[in-house]
Amino acid sequence: MPDDDLARLRREYAARARRLANHDRYSLFDRAHLFAIQQRGRSVLAALRQAGFHPLSGKRILEVGCGSGGVLLEYLSYGASPAALHGVDLLPNRLHTARLRLPHLPLACADGQSLPYSPGSFDLVLQYTAFSSILDPAVKTNLAREMLRVLRPRGLILWYDFWLNPTNPQTRGIRPAEIRQLFPGCRYRFRRITLAPPLARRILPLSWTLAMVLEKAKLFNTHYLVTIRRR
Ligand SMILES: C[S@@+](CC[C@H](N)C(=O)[O-])C[C@H]1O[C@@H](n2cnc3c(N)ncnc32)[C@H](O)[C@@H]1O
Repeated sequence: MPDDDLARLRREYAARARRLANHDRYSLFDRAHLFAIQQRGRSVLAALRQAGFHPLSGKRILEVGCGSGGVLLEYLSYGASPAALHGVDLLPNRLHTARLRLPHLPLACADGQSLPYSPGSFDLVLQYTAFSSILDPAVKTNLAREMLRVLRPRGLILWYDFWLNPTNPQTRGIRPAEIRQLFPGCRYRFRRITLAPPLARRILPLSWTLAMVLEKAKLFNTHYLVTIRRR
């Protein structure tokens, strides 16, 4: 990754850690975060079930851009085998936190543009909000190429990222046309999920059911969950 982009990422995550130091926004004690994680979990499990990707035990899984390990923890709860659940992240301090939380998982500090694995070595390759934190189009193209390289021929890529985030200039939403370009020659299934967090924060204190109905209507959903397979 170019040095200036790496420096930008480092600065952005350090600033984010400072911003969030005194609040619970990414804690499950925060209603909106709990709602988003639980709803996403339902959608992910449904997508894996529909793709015939269950049970997860014994499957080789990699998360690219695993950060501090929150998503890997979710996959352990879905039944993934710890020894076969891998994570890669560029930033050593985020990976350090992941290692403290998940000392038994194989985690690597590496740039996703050159993954330290042989071709075809994973059944399932995940990316959750890593691509939207990358501003350079060439880095996104390289990352997607690497994800396809390490995927088994009949493997599955699971993508979760937002298409809209007007509030943070350090991120870029990614729409279906760009996802298709990043993973050419593949089949895709797009699901629009995750009720816009600012809206969820207002509605959840009044009614959990209303938030669920609104998410189902999809109109105010900010993310795409996508299953991607080679043709
Ligand atoms: C928004 S965080 C998401 C973390 C995790 N996937 C989650 O959802 O909790 C994005 C992560 O992608 C990582 N990342 C960005 N560019 C990367 C690259 N080229 N190679 C590996 N990791 C990268 C960042 O360091 C950061 O930890």
